[in-house]
Amino acid sequence: MTLPTMRAAVAESFGGPDVLQVRKIAMPAIAPDEVLVRVAYVGLQPADAAARAGWQPPGVAVEPPLIPGNEFSGTVTATGRLATGFEIGDAVLGFRVFGCSAEYVTVPASQVIRKPAALPWDAAGVLSASGQTAHTALETLGITAGETVIVHGAAGGVGTIFVQLSLLAGATVIGTAGAENQDYLRWLGAVAVEYGPGELGRLRAAVRKHSSSESADAVLDAAGRGSLRAAVELTPNRFRIGSIAEPPLADELGCLFIRSQRSSERLRELAELAANGYLNVTIRRRYRLEEVAAAHREIETGHGRGKAVLEIHQPQETTEWGATGQDLEYIGIEL
Ligand SMILES: NC(=O)c1ccc[n+]([C@@H]2O[C@H](COP(=O)([O-])OP(=O)(O)OC[C@H]3O[C@@H](n4cnc5c(N)ncnc54)[C@H](OP(=O)(O)O)[C@@H]3O)[C@@H](O)[C@H]2O)c1
Repeated sequence: MTLPTMRAAVAESFGGPDVLQVRKIAMPAIAPDEVLVRVAYVGLQPADAAARAGWQPPGVAVEPPLIPGNEFSGTVTATGRLATGFEIGDAVLGFRVFGCSAEYVTVPASQVIRKPAALPWDAAGVLSASGQTAHTALETLGITAGETVIVHGAAGGVGTIFVQLSLLAGATVIGTAGAENQDYLRWLGAVAVEYGPGELGRLRAAVRKHSSSESADAVLDAAGRGSLRAAVELTPNRFRIGSIAEPPLADELGCLFIRSQRSSERLRELAELAANGYLNVTIRRRYRLEEVAAAHREIETGHGRGKAVLEIHQPQETTEWGATGQDLEYIGIEL
């Protein structure tokens, strides 16, 4: 019997971006509690590139052949007999540990939510991974109204969402980015500070100017590269300094290391915020499935704003490119 096949981006061995090849492989079999989703868009994040290169995420055994991708949007094409709440044809977004850079993905129904009609397909495909990390960080650091928060790596996938969630919580946000992303940070609503030599002094001056105190209330390090060393000079309480990027340094300095806690409830809240215009989902660049190696090369640079996305299939309901109205407006500014 010939099994049905699908196209997927597969790393047959650990290595650089060029180990990724688009292959025809067997369609995944669906378990009783799962839904089968025809994938529309898949977000990319540094963890995809790191796992492809051989990194083992905590609690997960990654072995080639590896299909990267931890988040997706798409359409339900089959449901397991115990997978309640979804019907064939439902527009959804969701998450799983790898396996998403393919035409189809199976996933427990508990890791999928309905896509709000107002949320564009591409924005839905890149929301889960960075969004849920940013949401977890906001909760862990306990950001509240009136506080001043510093975000290292504020322009990236996680930083972009964390800045906006902190602003929605009523905080003043000071973010670091490279020279090219200073206007972007201001557009998001943050006070923009350039990283690099003299960064600590610039951050100190920004805290003095924008808060009633000499120190910030909390810091998120979404950049790594030793950013926590500046953070501990700017915030006295190390339980309000968290890194998502540099576990050994967080440990050494007695700061928190924050891991994303993913759930459908968290994702639903983010999707509603984005669909209702409270959260901009910035698409850095779009790639076709065949361009997956180039997409990995880009995320490995460690620079850029928002998220890169792979387009696997464009559902008919898609009306326009672009994430949200705000995103299109921003692109229109031509900085
Ligand atoms: N713990 C977890 O659960 C978890 C979850 C998701 C991600 N992460 C990790 O968190 C980090 C950020 O993820 P991401 O998806 O946001 O990555 P990303 O999209 O690649 O963004 C990284 C950002 O860091 C900035 N950056 C580069 N060098 C910097 C420096 N020296 N100082 C300050 N900022 C600098 C870049 O800004 P410019 O472009 O302006 O240079 C870029 O916007 C990665 O290390 C990732 O592996 C951890």
